Amino acid sequence: MADIRACLFDLDGVIVDTAKYHYLAWKRLCNELGFDLTEEENESLKGISRVESLNILLKKGGVELSPEKREEHLVRKNGWYLEYIDAMSTDEILPGVLDFLKAVKASGRRMALGSASKNAMHILEALDLVSMFEAVVDGTKVTCGKPHPQTFLIGAEAVGTAPAHCVVFEDAVAGVDAALAGGMYAIGVGEQSVLHKAHKVIPGFDGRGLEIFDEI
Ligand code: BG6
Ligand code: MG
Repeated sequence: MADIRACLFDLDGVIVDTAKYHYLAWKRLCNELGFDLTEEENESLKGISRVESLNILLKKGGVELSPEKREEHLVRKNGWYLEYIDAMSTDEILPGVLDFLKAVKASGRRMALGSASKNAMHILEALDLVSMFEAVVDGTKVTCGKPHPQTFLIGAEAVGTAPAHCVVFEDAVAGVDAALAGGMYAIGVGEQSVLHKAHKVIPGFDGRGLEIFDEI
């Protein structure tokens, strides 16, 4: 049985369903550039930085752009995304997440956030969750994005816990890969068929408590 002393949480798609807003904003940009983006294709963008995501999309659409144009599109995409975020309230915290976070905290386990997003602090503030985490490692603090383990290794260090005693909660394949590459346990939040490399996959946190640590 795993001896879990720290939990590292991804944000988008784990704590809040911002993944759908990223998808809508990227789809809008793709449509403007003359091609479409399906939800299946969007799956490969989860956990990946904004710049990397645009690179993948431009390649898919066969579109070549100058660095200036790329930057312009990144800013526009983020503007559309933030319109969704700014309309968000604490109601959008995914079912069961708040109770689960509180239970982990009460158990004395350490808690950190590990997100690729440069908007992570803004989102945590909108959800009133900043005080829940001892450390927030976001897209502004890393040089290597997921699937590189840097995000979670910095998080583990920040909460003074060896990777072997950490579990990462992730909805993205890149995030599960990052956790495993860092020598941590991974719990996938989503579909088994997508996240099968994780030690365990759950559909969400509803009804889940600390017993989950006995299941990995
Ligand atoms: C991740 C999302 O959490 O953050 C990705 O899963 C997103 O889809 C990435 O591209 C970067 O987010 P942001 O907010 O910096 O554009
Ligand atoms: Mg995610």
